[in-house]
Amino acid sequence: MTLECTWRRVTNEAARLTPIHLRQLFADNANRFVDLSATLDDLTIDFSKEKLDADALEVLVDLARVTEVEVKRDAMFRGEPWNLTEQRPVLHMALRGGAVAPGTDDVFGVLDRFLGYAEQIRLDNQFEDVINIGIGGSDLGPAMVTRALRPDHDGPRVHFVSNVDGAHLADTLKGLDPARTLIIVASKTFTTLETMTNAHSARAWLDRHAESNMVAVSTNIDACANFGIPEDRVFGFWDWVGGRYSLWSAIGLPIALAVGAVKFRELLAGAKTMDNHFRTAPPSENLPILLALVGIWRRNAMGCQTVALIPYDQRLERFPAYVQQLDMESNGKGIGRTGDFIALSTSPVVWGEPGTNAQHSFFQLLHQGTDTIPVDFIVAAQPREEQGNHHLHLLSNCLAQSQALAFGKTEGEVSAEMAAEGWSQDDINRLARHRSFPGDRPSTTIIHRQLDAFALGRLIALFEHKVFVQGAIWDLNSFDQWGVELGKQLANVLSPIIAGCATADGLDGSSAGLVARLRQLAK
Ligand code: F6P
Repeated sequence: MTLECTWRRVTNEAARLTPIHLRQLFADNANRFVDLSATLDDLTIDFSKEKLDADALEVLVDLARVTEVEVKRDAMFRGEPWNLTEQRPVLHMALRGGAVAPGTDDVFGVLDRFLGYAEQIRLDNQFEDVINIGIGGSDLGPAMVTRALRPDHDGPRVHFVSNVDGAHLADTLKGLDPARTLIIVASKTFTTLETMTNAHSARAWLDRHAESNMVAVSTNIDACANFGIPEDRVFGFWDWVGGRYSLWSAIGLPIALAVGAVKFRELLAGAKTMDNHFRTAPPSENLPILLALVGIWRRNAMGCQTVALIPYDQRLERFPAYVQQLDMESNGKGIGRTGDFIALSTSPVVWGEPGTNAQHSFFQLLHQGTDTIPVDFIVAAQPREEQGNHHLHLLSNCLAQSQALAFGKTEGEVSAEMAAEGWSQDDINRLARHRSFPGDRPSTTIIHRQLDAFALGRLIALFEHKVFVQGAIWDLNSFDQWGVELGKQLANVLSPIIAGCATADGLDGSSAGLVARLRQLAK
C-alpha cells in the first residue's frame, strides 16, 4: 500500500465519520471504551470520545506502518544522526537508561555527580534559595516538574527566571539574601541573550558571593569559563540532548535540589518505563503511537488547527506551556527531512490552562463556539493529599466536560427540561437555543493513579514520543529549531538603533516609526 493510497483511506474514513454524531457512535457500539482505549500499568488513555471507530483506527495504524514509524524509532534509539540538519543523534532517552548507544557511556557518571552535588547542598543548609536562570528548554521542563512535585519539596526554595524583561529577575531577587542564594546558569549553548543578560545582572547582585554562589549547566564549558564559572562548578551534558528534551540531564539540577536524588531517579524511572513501552509495544497498543495517531486524525483528517491541553491538576499548571515548546518547536515546520515542502498541515497550536479554572474562562467557546477544538484532559485518580471532597469535585468536573463536549444537549432536551422546571413557553422559545449544546466535539482523557515523580516522568516521555511519532509521519526533523533564528538576528540589528547608537536608515517604515515613538516615550 503506497503512502498516497493510505492517506486517501484516512481521508475516506474521515468523510465517513464526519457526519455521524458522537452520540450515534456510542449508541452503535457500547464497547467503545474497550475498543478505543489503551493502558500501560495504571496509565490509561481513553480516546473513545474522538470521532473515530475501530476501522478508522486500523487505517491510522496502517499509516504509522507505511510511514515507517517503527523503523525511524529504532534508528533514533540506535543513535543514528536523526537530527539531520545538525547531524546529531537524538538520545535524551539515554539519560534515563531508556536507550544505550555509542557516545552515551558517561551519562550515569554525570548523573551521580550532579545528584551528589544537589544532596550536598540540601544537607549543608547554606542556601535558602536557588534561582535557575535559563529559558526555553533550560527553563520550561525543570520549572514545570518542580511545580508538579511540590508535595515532595524538602530542599531550598527554587525559583526560575527566564525572561530578559528585567522585571522577572527584579521580582525574584526581592527579599532574597545574596549570601544564602545559589544561582544556576542553565544554558545548553551558554550564548542565549536572555540567559546571559540575566546571568550578568545576577552576578552583579551576588557581588562578593558570586564566585562561590554560582554554578552552570551547559555543553559549552569554554563559554562558562569565560564568564567566570570554572569547570569544577559546571555540570555538562551533550549535543545529542535537545534543549526541550533536556530536563533529564543536569538541566534537571533545580528539580533535584527541590526534591532530592531519590525522587529525581523515580522521575527518570517513569520515563524509562515509557521508553521501553514505546520501543516494544505493537503499534495498536503503543500509547505514544496511538496518542500521535489521534493527533494526526484531528489535524490532517478533521482539519482542527488547535488543541486545548487541560490538566485537571493544579500542579500541572505549567504542563501546557511545556508541551507548547515540545510540540510546536519540534513539529511547527513546513520543510520535510528531504528538504521538500510538506503538503500536509503539521503541528497544531497547543494551548491550555488547568481545569477547573479553564471552565470559568474559555470553555464557553469550546462548548458553543463556531470551531471544533479537540481537548486533551489529564487527571489523577488520587490526590497527593486528602482534603474533604475537593478531589471528587475535580474528577466529576473533568469527566463532565468531556461528556458535555461529546454528547451536548439538544434544543428539544433543553425545552423539555425547562418545561419540567415550570418555565413559560415564551421563555422556552426565547432561551432554549442559547442553552443548547451541539456536542460532537472530540476529546481524549488521560488518567493515572497519582501525580508522583514516577508518573510524571512517564507522562512527559509519553508526550515526547508522541511528538516524535507525529514528526515521523509528517517526515520532518523534530529536533532542530531554525525558526527561532531570524528574530534573534533582527533583534541584534535593532538593539543599537533603539539605543541611539546606530541610524534607522534602511529600516522598514513601521519599525522606524515604532523606534522613533519608543525613543520619544522613553525620555
Ligand atoms: O531559541 C530557542 C532555543 O534554542 C530553544 O530550543 C532552547 O531550549 C532555548 O533556546 C534555550 O537555549 P539554551 O539552553 O542554549 O540557552
